Amino acid sequence: MNNNKNILIGVCGGIAAYKIPILVRLFVKQNYNVKLILTKASHDFVTEKTLSVLSKNQVITDFFDNNNNWNNHVQLAEWADVFIIAPLTANTLAKMANGICDNVLLATYLSCRSKTIVAPAMDLEMYQHPSTINNLKTIQSFKNLIIPAQTGELASGLVGEGRMAEPEDIFNFTLNYFKSQLPLLSKTILVNAGPTYEAIDPVRFIGNRSSGKMGIAIANYFSSLGANVNLVLGPSNQNNVSKNINVINVESASEMFTACMKLFESVDIAVCTAAVADYTPETVNKQKIKKSDKNLNLSLVKTKDILAEMGLKKSKQFLVGFALETENVIEYAKQKLINKNLDLIVANSAKEHGAGFGTDTNKITIIDKHNKMYNFELKSKELVAKDIVNTLMNLI
Ligand code: CTP
Repeated sequence: MNNNKNILIGVCGGIAAYKIPILVRLFVKQNYNVKLILTKASHDFVTEKTLSVLSKNQVITDFFDNNNNWNNHVQLAEWADVFIIAPLTANTLAKMANGICDNVLLATYLSCRSKTIVAPAMDLEMYQHPSTINNLKTIQSFKNLIIPAQTGELASGLVGEGRMAEPEDIFNFTLNYFKSQLPLLSKTILVNAGPTYEAIDPVRFIGNRSSGKMGIAIANYFSSLGANVNLVLGPSNQNNVSKNINVINVESASEMFTACMKLFESVDIAVCTAAVADYTPETVNKQKIKKSDKNLNLSLVKTKDILAEMGLKKSKQFLVGFALETENVIEYAKQKLINKNLDLIVANSAKEHGAGFGTDTNKITIIDKHNKMYNFELKSKELVAKDIVNTLMNLI
């Protein structure tokens, strides 16, 4: 798994630089992409080769590399999802506070639009000097995040405040920062997905061709945005559900109804993608039905409509339904939006090539309750999930 986040680490010339390889390992082990910039002074405490091997990337030390190629600090700054400067020395801090740009680390800092997190490390008196305190306040006012130095034994032999935060603390601070940026952190979501199986006898059922792919893609995307996701999943052979998702496996329409209604009251958003059976056998034969010369008639009774029930019960919840049609797609979808009291409906056609059940792609039109339509091209179900969730987020 790739976390898809780019971590840029700027290393200044302080003894605590010897701990930076540990920090790099922590990120790399979790599949973050790591690049480093070293100041000249840092070379006394940590080697370029060590950091290059650990990060699996060339380490930047100057505006030009050994072959006279320009290291584009603007591109580097753009690449970074976060810029960590650790250890931050009094010298680099003073330059950051005053916009001085006499090395590639500072040029990158000034070019960086992503968040900068600093972990200062200094001796006791230096850390308490009014100029250091002022400079820290100044860079804080520039919206940089500061991981305060810790108290402990310092390189000078003194004991006090000034030790760089431990690599684990810098790592966790950064992860918490990423988490705090997630737009759906405080939201609880319910997604249902997949088909339902309605038993006829112990070995047979009435089902449909839904794979669960669309709903799982939506649940996964919600989860990647920090939401607390519950997925009520009918029989599906998909195994790509994100590990943070609470999965409730069900089989029949009635089980899906019970599981969904139990959760519904406590969720902020419900997205019903499941292909719920509209009819179920009136009775389930206890034994396997034996073949005879006569035709077999099954009596089917209506199941409960989960989405319509949610529409009746909803108070503050945002409700999204799906409409899979073979004809009059938009018209039928609009009717369902009104009849089931939805905020959004996602219409797709079972007749459209590459759309609907079982495929890896889908082509959808989203309709909101003010009749506004959003049309999308045929694309992978993962990208369709993003379109649906992003449209929904713009509306709430
Ligand atoms: N739905 C549901 N419970 C049911 C049937 C459908 O929650 N018993 C939901 C589906 O999950 C979907 C929406 O209702 O979000 C529309 O489902 P669809 O099968 O397209 O329509 P139906 O309401 O079943 O009507 P019809 O089959 O006649 O088109």
